[in-house]
Amino acid sequence: MNWNERLDAMAAGYQDAAILLAAIRHRLFDELDTSPRTAADVATARGLDVRAVSMVLHALAATGVLVKEGKGFTLLEDRARVLRSDGADTQVSIFGHHEHLLKRWARLDEVLANGRPVPHGERSESELRDFICGMEDIQKRSLRGVLDVVDFSAVRHLLDLGGGPATAALTFAERWPHLRCTVFDLPAPCAIARERIEASGLGARVGVMPGDYHVDDLGGGYDVVYLSNIIHSMGDQETSALYAKCCEALVPGGRLLVKDFFLDDSMTSPHYAARFAVNMLVGTEKGKSYSVGETRRMLTDAGFSAIERLDVPPHSAIMVGVRTA
Ligand SMILES: C[S@@+](CC[C@H](N)C(=O)[O-])C[C@H]1O[C@@H](n2cnc3c(N)ncnc32)[C@H](O)[C@@H]1O
Repeated sequence: MNWNERLDAMAAGYQDAAILLAAIRHRLFDELDTSPRTAADVATARGLDVRAVSMVLHALAATGVLVKEGKGFTLLEDRARVLRSDGADTQVSIFGHHEHLLKRWARLDEVLANGRPVPHGERSESELRDFICGMEDIQKRSLRGVLDVVDFSAVRHLLDLGGGPATAALTFAERWPHLRCTVFDLPAPCAIARERIEASGLGARVGVMPGDYHVDDLGGGYDVVYLSNIIHSMGDQETSALYAKCCEALVPGGRLLVKDFFLDDSMTSPHYAARFAVNMLVGTEKGKSYSVGETRRMLTDAGFSAIERLDVPPHSAIMVGVRTA
């Protein structure tokens, strides 16, 4: 692809996103599997417009998401796992979250002019659920990589700070049968976490602590604080203050694990983290993607030593620091 073609593809990239996200929003993929169904079948089942559904299904077939055979469309198993709401690796909540984000990203030009995030007010209940359960979709995938690089076999009590629907805490508690986990989050996500904990049967070892980590006490005596996908929504001052608070909540020798989409020190690579920084520009006052170098410095200033970086492909890394004293 030459530069003209690459730029054309970038400029029109929102169209493929809008097609996929609208299909998810209306659960078109839930009507499809390996048995062919026509556009009229799908539209009727979902109570939608036949002409519109037909064009969207054809566009999805053009990109290979669907396969068209005669007049029917099929959804192959590897896509169904991700795109159907009952798929084993479903991503429908995080894709629903992307649909909300798309509307904000369309106003990036305003952010460039005034430096302020796009106003979005209180999240509706469905937006909040897409966001929190979307974190669960993402976490389920990345936790496989996390389990490859962490070892909590000697850990007694772990704090999952900003732990959302308790996905990490439950995964860790299942992997290490002696481990006790506390999920700290705002009250509404804690309610979703409680549902997940109850369904898991791990309630004896996984609990929730509703609160605001900027103002409330985090408790203490933790061997590990796990801080996953939290710092990118905050500026340097708030992040440094939270690192210091985590340090205090740990036992001496305890570890802070900061998982995020880190940039290298050029701040231009990897592409995912550089683009994610703009997502934080659109959505938050001071959020950003942090570089590995600045995180190392900030952790050191907060009282951590022996700092190391563990990669969690495809996009994340964990920066680990040990409480010095
Ligand atoms: C991007 S999500 C990350 C969730 C989870 N740790 C993960 O890795 O998927 C950020 C989480 O931080 C929580 N959060 C945001 N501000 C908070 C605050 N002031 N106090 C406690 N939790 C907060 C949100 O409710 C949300 O669950």
